[in-house]
Amino acid sequence: MMNTIEVGDRKFEISITNERINERIKLIAAQINAEYEDKRPIFVGVLNGSFLFMADLLKEVNIPCEVAFMKVSSYKGTTSSGEMKEVFGLPENLKDRNLILVEDIVDTGFTLKYILEKVYLQQPASVRVCSLLFKPEAILSPIQELEYIGFEIPNEFVVGYGLDYDELGRNLKHIYRTIS
Ligand code: IMP
Repeated sequence: MMNTIEVGDRKFEISITNERINERIKLIAAQINAEYEDKRPIFVGVLNGSFLFMADLLKEVNIPCEVAFMKVSSYKGTTSSGEMKEVFGLPENLKDRNLILVEDIVDTGFTLKYILEKVYLQQPASVRVCSLLFKPEAILSPIQELEYIGFEIPNEFVVGYGLDYDELGRNLKHIYRTIS
């Protein structure tokens, strides 16, 4: 296995292997299978970063469920709570549904805060967030709904397994951290 790689103009070293990711995913899926057995949850992946996590997670989910994806635009301007974003493709039938939002990483929490505001307008029965990564030191807008976390990581930049550096590196199998 290559332990260091280059993505664009930066060097990265391995942080979390694909094997560890898949082991963790099995445990999270087992928890979801137990907690949502009769609830027909709808998983909504936040693109682009969640595409691999969503695919691997859903292969381990074995209860009746629905799958959808949505996207948040890059910022349109700045407000006191961070960047103003626009949500595309959020399913429109969320009333009384049990929603699980699937994210690659929660950093400041501003993206999810914005998405959750839009989600609650539709009066779902329940909303929880499942994020592969969480940077506790970076959070500025705490997310009550953050229930399932793959790995807590320090406040460092990571790439791979869906996460990008300037749109590169999403296809990497493992998660890598910047070498400072
Ligand atoms: P937040 O709104 O600050 O929580 O940022 C969430 C989004 O920022 C994620 O969905 C990622 O797209 C991006 N992001 C945050 N930290 C990283 C990182 O370390 N590597 C790659 N993307 C990141």
